[in-house]
This record gives sequence, structure tokens and C-alpha cells, in this order.
Amino acid sequence: MAAGLQRPQAAAACLLLLRYLSCGLCIPDPKLREALIKQEISMQTGGQVVLTDAEQRLDSVLFKMKQKEMMRPDFPPAMHFFKARELIKTSPIFSLLQKMPKGAALHVHDLSMVNAEWLVKNATYRPHCYMCYTDSNSIRFNFSSQAPEKQLNCSPWILLESLRAKLINTTDLDNSIMGNLTLFTNQDPETVYPSQEVVWDKFEKAFQAMWGLFTYAPVFRDYYYQGLTEFYTDNVMYLELRAVLPEIYELDGSCHCVAWTVKTYQEVTRQFKKDHPDFYGARIIFSHNRNASPSKMTEIVQKALKLQQDFPIFMAGFDLVGREDTGRPLWYFRDALSLPGDKGMTLPFFFHAGETNLEGTDVDQNLLDALLFNTSRIGHGFALLRHPLVKYKSRIEGVAVEVCPISNQVMKLVKDLRNHPAAALMSENHPVVISSDDPSMFGSSGLSYDFYEAFVGFGGLRANIGTLKELAKNSIRYSSLTPKQQKEAFALWQKKWDKFVSENAF
Ligand SMILES: *[C@@H]1O[C@H](CO)[C@@H](O)[C@H](O)[C@H]1NC(C)=O
Ligand SMILES: *[C@@H]1O[C@H](CO)[C@@H](O)[C@H](O)[C@H]1NC(C)=O
Ligand SMILES: *[C@@H]1O[C@H](CO)[C@@H](O)[C@H](O)[C@H]1NC(C)=O
Ligand SMILES: *[C@@H]1O[C@H](CO)[C@@H](O)[C@H](O)[C@H]1NC(C)=O
Ligand SMILES: *[C@@H]1O[C@H](CO)[C@@H](O)[C@H](O)[C@H]1NC(C)=O
Ligand SMILES: [Zn+2]
Repeated sequence: MAAGLQRPQAAAACLLLLRYLSCGLCIPDPKLREALIKQEISMQTGGQVVLTDAEQRLDSVLFKMKQKEMMRPDFPPAMHFFKARELIKTSPIFSLLQKMPKGAALHVHDLSMVNAEWLVKNATYRPHCYMCYTDSNSIRFNFSSQAPEKQLNCSPWILLESLRAKLINTTDLDNSIMGNLTLFTNQDPETVYPSQEVVWDKFEKAFQAMWGLFTYAPVFRDYYYQGLTEFYTDNVMYLELRAVLPEIYELDGSCHCVAWTVKTYQEVTRQFKKDHPDFYGARIIFSHNRNASPSKMTEIVQKALKLQQDFPIFMAGFDLVGREDTGRPLWYFRDALSLPGDKGMTLPFFFHAGETNLEGTDVDQNLLDALLFNTSRIGHGFALLRHPLVKYKSRIEGVAVEVCPISNQVMKLVKDLRNHPAAALMSENHPVVISSDDPSMFGSSGLSYDFYEAFVGFGGLRANIGTLKELAKNSIRYSSLTPKQQKEAFALWQKKWDKFVSENAF
């Protein structure tokens, strides 16, 4: 019935036919397309890295593994880490990442570097360990030669050694102690931690619970040594540790001052290096809670300046910690934080900033203020994408963002790690490093779990061996080490890297 078509309809049909016949001309140029894809990939973290033959072979192995991993219906990065952990443990990508020399861990807190099980099985099994039950369903510890004085809002002290001696089976007791020292749980994490408020509350309670263990001198030393061991075993060669530097006590109740704490950290680091010559070392970033009053903060900054002067090699600088959303913003402390500059003294800053999804609040200005105070790096920077100017400044000034994927997920800023904002940062080679923040609180350890989430989760299929290499190099490049030290550290890392590649490329 073509003849029956009205004129306009006939014209339209004709046009359609014409378009159909010439459609080859309307497909965008495949060569241009190919070139643009390549160009975009070259913009990502590691996109400019020229791979050796061995690295290319390892890359194709990794690529196949990742394709397989991404087809899983139970794709680990899409799940809460507490549920994903067992799956990740059996992933072949994860076991490669464990073996990979990852360089440095630049955002780790001293109170959370050792798995909670060590605290239970080692620290609480030592003699003279007392425990009490608080009114808010938590626990406290105190090592003492005789029963300590009863604490307010806590049961009478119980000597754990005697309590355990009375029990036939200590598993339940040990599990309940452990449950108080970590956020990790085998129950449904969404039910146990329905909101940021609940998870932060438990987080802070866990630090209070472990305080009496951590600050006992013999435990303190062994804890730190064990922490270095865990990172070293995970192929991390250098750490910059956020440390609260508390007073440390002995069995007789006597206390050591903060300088002693720094000195002990330094001694244990030296000992560890002696025992493991291929470990590069550690530096300390003194960290104080952001809830202090302005006058208290002035005192703290003065203390930090003194430590920086007394331990110029071992101290890296200063930071403020604690929940940003409920704490005080950096600008609130502008007088205290400008003290070093005013005095013409050096105190490098390493501020946590932008660990929030509250847009436009005072707290949300922390990112800008951190840069205005010349921060050396940005801790988390989760909110950075919403601040294009700050992002631009951080890029051109080389102020790296310390990305801690598992932390951000557990603390409920992002649910599915494919949606982490660092995906965008890494797609344009923004200066980033990957770190683990508080591994023991999250039931992880070292750096490999966070590398897995970054590489498989928000790295996607495009993140490759070049990405991993660049991330490891970034961790040295953006560390507080001097240029000369960085050269040494790079040389040490390169040796490890070449060995890793040659042993795993087939
Ligand atoms: C705890 O660990 C330290 C250091 O590794 C070790 O010397 C000590 O024997 C351990 N103590 C217990 C009770 O396991
Ligand atoms: C341990 O108990 C003593 C009192 O007996 C107290 O002075 C000290 O602060 C307590 N230490 C900790 C870490 O709670
Ligand atoms: C101790 O109790 C736990 C759980 O209550 C159980 O799994 C374990 O088998 C028990 N151990 C012994 C030695 O009876
Ligand atoms: C913490 O300790 C209290 C007191 O023993 C216990 O009732 C509670 O179950 C523990 N919490 C967890 C999460 O295990
Ligand atoms: C930050 O660095 C700039 C440039 O070196 C300097 O002018 C400024 O005084 C510094 N600001 C602070 C708060 O130290
Ligand atoms: Zn942190």
C-alpha cells in the first residue's frame, strides 16, 4: 500500500531509508573512540606508568582474576566489610595484594593497629590484670599489684586470673571482652549499627575499654611491636602513626610522662628495625581530640611544638582527631593552630578533614581550612568532590588525600564501595594514598584489605598493575620523609617490588 501513503508520510519514510543507507557515516569514528578511551585511561592513577614485560604479564593475570571477581553475585566491595571479610580472604587477588610491597601506611591510629584478639589473648592473660563492668555495658582494665580503688559507675574490680581459674571454659568470657574492644561482629552489621551515631558511640566506647590495657607500660611496648609486626607481615615497610601519646603507667601506679612515651615508641621502632633490616621505620603524628577548649588546645599545640623540637627526626607533626560532625571545626582553633607560624616555628599539620557527608556545615569547611593552615596531607577527604576549589588546590599543591575505604564504609559514609568518591579522584590521578585508619576496630589488619577494596571496588576493571604501583609509590612520595630518605625508601621498595613481580608473573 505504499502508493496509498500521504505525502508527508512518504517523505519521512524516504528520509528514514536514506538515513539507514548512509548510517555508516553516522557511527562515531571508531579510531577516535579508541583514542579517547586510551586518553582517559592514561589520566587515571598509574595511567602513565610504563610497564615492564613481567609487569604486563602480571597485569593480564590480575585482569582475568578481576573479571572473574566482578561477575560474582556476592561481589565483596558491594557488601559490608564485616560480611565480606571471609570472602575477601579467599580471593586470589587479595592474596596477591598481601604479597605486594605496598610502601607506607600513612593514616593509622596507634590505639587500633593490633588485632583485638591479641589484646584478649595476650594482654588480658598477663598477671595483675583487673577488670570491672561499667553501668553502660562496657568494661575497664587496670594492672595493679593490689586491687585498684573502685571506679565510679563500674563494678568492683575482678582479678581476671582468679576469674578464669574458676571457669571451666573461658571462651565466652574472652569473646565478650573481645566484643568490647572492636566494632567487628558476626551479627548483621546493619542491625547492630543502624546509624552513624550508634557506630561512633561504640567506636569511642571501645577505645575507653582498651585504655587501661594499652597504657600499661609492658603492654604498651609489646602492643606497638606487635602492631609493627602486623604491618610488616602485610608487606608495609614504613608507617606514619597518629598517636595520642598518653601517660603510661606501671604496676605500682607510677606514671611516665609524654616524652617517655615518644622515646619508647622510638626505641621500639629501632629495635624492630634491628630485628627486620628491610623495614624502613616509623614516625609519629601527635594527635589530640578535637573536643578541647580553645585554651586547652593552645596548651596542646605548645606541647606538640616542644615534642617536635625535642624529637625532630621521629616526630612528623600534629593532627586533631575524633568525630568531625560532633567535634569542633578547625577554624574554631585558629588561634592555637596559628601559634607555630606566629612563633616562626615548624609544626607540620596532617589534618583529618572532610570525613563527613554533612554538606555546607561549619565542619564541611574543614577541608578548606586544612589547606589554609598548610596541611601536609588530608585525612579522609571524603567530602572533597563537593569542594572543587579545595580539590584543585590540593592537586596543584600536592596535598595528598589519605583514602581509608573500609573505615568510611564501617563508619557509614558509604555503603557500596564501588560508590566511594575516591573512584573519581583516582580516575584523574589526584594525589591519593590508601590507608586503613583503625584496622583492629574494623576487624581488618595491615593495608591489604583496604587495597583490595580500592583496587577491586572503586578501582573497577580499569585499575591495573600500574595503578597499584603508583599507589605504593605515592605512599613514599607523599610521606613526611626528607628527599634523601625518600630516595632510600624508594630504592628499598623497588627491590621488593621487582622481586614481587618476578615471583608472580608467569
Ligand atoms: C605476649 O606477647 C609477648 C611479646 O610477644 C610475649 O613475650 C608474652 O609471652 C605474651 N604473653 C602472653 C600472656 O601470651
Ligand atoms: C588504676 O587504678 C588506680 C587507682 O587504684 C588509678 O589511680 C589509675 O588511674 C587507674 N588506671 C587506669 C588506667 O584506669
Ligand atoms: C568452650 O565453649 C565454646 C562456646 O561456648 C565451645 O565452642 C568450645 O568448644 C568450648 N571449649 C571446650 C574446650 O569445651
Ligand atoms: C561487653 O562486655 C559486657 C560485660 O561483660 C557484655 O555484657 C557485653 O556483651 C560485651 N559486648 C559485646 C559486644 O560483646
Ligand atoms: C601557609 O604557607 C604560606 C606560603 O608558604 C604562608 O604564607 C602562610 O603564612 C602559611 N600559613 C600558615 C597558617 O602557616
Ligand atoms: Zn583517622
